[in-house]
Amino acid sequence: MPGDKSISHRALILSAMTVGETRITGLLEGEDVINTAKVMRVLGAAVERTGEGAWSVRGVGVAGFAQPEIALDFGNSGTGCRLVMGAVAGCPVTAVFDGDASLRKRPMKRVLDPLIRIGARALDAAEGGRLPLTLQGAKNPIPIEYAPPVASAQLKSAVLLAGLAAPGETIVIEKEATRDHTEKMLAHFGAQVRVEAFGEHGRKITLTGRPELVPAPLQVPADPSSAAFPLAAALIVPGSDIVIEGVMMNPLRTGLFLTLREMGANIDMLSAKNDGGEEVADLRVKASSLRGVEVPAARVPSMIDEYPILAVLAAFAEGTTRMRGLSELRVKESDRLAATADMLRVNGVAVEIEGDDLVVHGKGRVSGGGIVATHMDHRLAMSALVMGLASEKPVAVDDAAFIATSFPGFVDLMCATGADLS
Ligand code: S3P
Repeated sequence: MPGDKSISHRALILSAMTVGETRITGLLEGEDVINTAKVMRVLGAAVERTGEGAWSVRGVGVAGFAQPEIALDFGNSGTGCRLVMGAVAGCPVTAVFDGDASLRKRPMKRVLDPLIRIGARALDAAEGGRLPLTLQGAKNPIPIEYAPPVASAQLKSAVLLAGLAAPGETIVIEKEATRDHTEKMLAHFGAQVRVEAFGEHGRKITLTGRPELVPAPLQVPADPSSAAFPLAAALIVPGSDIVIEGVMMNPLRTGLFLTLREMGANIDMLSAKNDGGEEVADLRVKASSLRGVEVPAARVPSMIDEYPILAVLAAFAEGTTRMRGLSELRVKESDRLAATADMLRVNGVAVEIEGDDLVVHGKGRVSGGGIVATHMDHRLAMSALVMGLASEKPVAVDDAAFIATSFPGFVDLMCATGADLS
């Protein structure tokens, strides 16, 4: 499996804010992460590939970024863009942020709002604070206490990265805990970060600003969001029995596995261990008969990227699956709520969107035969192709190019396990 995308972005950005050299292994070499590596170079860090998945980063220190001479191009990546907006907001430089047509549609105001409170300025932006936008970092960043209005690890991380350059304590209070890779990696590089429980599902994160971040080697574990695709394929293709090695099992990322267990999936966790601060496990997956379930809204943050592939599995299950509270899916690489429903519909599956819920009526089989519009969204393309592995007629996608943003070896890997992709 390729390295985790979230951790790979953070590894490059945070090591670029240390003083000295960090060696990273297992880095995801997908287009999104490569764009973040290029941006770190434009901002003055020395970033070099030394082998397969092996990278060396010489950082410039907290608030040490150089004035960029060119626009920062994040391609398709909301994570790269929003995290670097935070990192730049605490630095006395002015940068133009840009991306592809998909990223240009995505909301950035949610990130700009707290960064402006910290002291950054949006000098220029497209309608609604969208890309391309020009951000002027704060000369004297102010520590803030901030409660994100939506459950978003990107938003939380942007505020924490900006808070690195502010004196005193920057506090983020999230009502629903989201992936905690930024907090963990800040501590790994020597920052003082305190994480406390907040309410029923939330967390309060307190970061002490202006640390000297110290380089430390990083090993990126395998991405559970990428592992979801071969795992789903094995569940629905009769006779399958595969092992997926070294998958990160951070509890804030494992909502899909929990849901699949409830659906009756045959998934065994082999050799679970702690590796470089994260739990990892080999997963043995066998073809299974699945049943429809209710997926509660409280589970959304721990499986936010997994709904398109879960919807495919729900179509192959017997009975109805209701996935609750999916409003954030509307602002991903595409409107993933509408696009996921369309993906199923053109392949003969009964599906409805009710408010923010996605309801899939599983019949244990999918007729297929449709051409899926992927809207520049890698996860839709992979979900549709996996569906085609078990549908009665083949499934086609209009564009498979965006798979390379997160899982460049997807087609080869699936073919090596017996898929017929042409
Ligand atoms: C990510 C957070 C999530 C997720 C994205 C990666 C991250 O986005 O969808 O793929 O690395 O922080 P939001 O924070 O917008 O929910």
